[in-house]
Amino acid sequence: MEIQKLLNTQISDVAATSLMTLYCHALESQSKDPILDDPLAVEITDKLNPELSQSDNKLYQSLAKGKLEKKLVVHVAMRAKRYDDYTRNFLERSHNGIVVNIGCGLDTRFHRIDNGKVIFYDLDLPEVIAVKRKLLPETDRYRFIPSSVLNYEWMEAITQLNPDSVLLMAEGVFMYLKEEEVKSLVLKLQSTFPGCELIAEFFNAAWLKQPLRAIINRKLQRDFKFGKDATFKFGIKDSKDLDSWNPGIEFLDDWFYLDEPEKKLGLLRVLKDIPFFRKILWTARYKLN
Ligand SMILES: C[S@@+](CC[C@H](N)C(=O)[O-])C[C@H]1O[C@@H](n2cnc3c(N)ncnc32)[C@H](O)[C@@H]1O
Repeated sequence: MEIQKLLNTQISDVAATSLMTLYCHALESQSKDPILDDPLAVEITDKLNPELSQSDNKLYQSLAKGKLEKKLVVHVAMRAKRYDDYTRNFLERSHNGIVVNIGCGLDTRFHRIDNGKVIFYDLDLPEVIAVKRKLLPETDRYRFIPSSVLNYEWMEAITQLNPDSVLLMAEGVFMYLKEEEVKSLVLKLQSTFPGCELIAEFFNAAWLKQPLRAIINRKLQRDFKFGKDATFKFGIKDSKDLDSWNPGIEFLDDWFYLDEPEKKLGLLRVLKDIPFFRKILWTARYKLN
């Protein structure tokens, strides 16, 4: 039987990380007491498996075999569940809210949270959206933006709708960008969508310095099997750091994995009282006034 080619072009190392999070969602959904219920992710991975298993790419091969570190699966599923909850909460507060999932990858959030009204944009690099288009249909309320988030023309489609309120989320994305890119993006979001909410995951800047940087790179490349260009470049020290980037940026709250009473975190939970470990990767929420 001929294998359907879904990935056909060689995707970049950063874009390929979207396959890893998709497989985490699918694997966790099929586990006992799943943190995340994502049947569509399971369906998509079933479609991708034949192609990935024939590839000579190490990441693809381990994904097709379902060989992913258990703790990684748990972290990524916890994060997806948390961002689903943030989205539902936003939609309860804002009846005509628009959601933009920046660096959406192959995630199926729209289908997990759809309230029958939301207009939801999935934005990612053209090579990722090309794959997504083959797997999920676009509709009036579920739209794709094939663009780098750094090419600001994408914002026009949303400003034209004159939305009452906008939620922008960047789940596992900003760390792959450069500091000046993230700063300029946040300021552009602030001026284009005044009053919007931004939710983003951050990496701790302390871990960008050697020798910690080498430990992280080894983890990404050896254990996660990421390509060498999928490295972390940007970090902050504290959620409140963004407040100093421009007047009007207002930190609201943050969320740390290890604070969750999630039994699947296992022994990692004992690290929650050690700030150095508790705060490697975390999520913060802002109002951009
Ligand atoms: C680790 S994946 C996360 C995917 C998704 N947010 C999730 O949690 O399942 C990182 C994603 O960021 C996207 N990305 C990286 N740089 C980007 C850019 N400049 N513009 C748009 N997307 C970008 C990648 O293509 C990839 O899909």
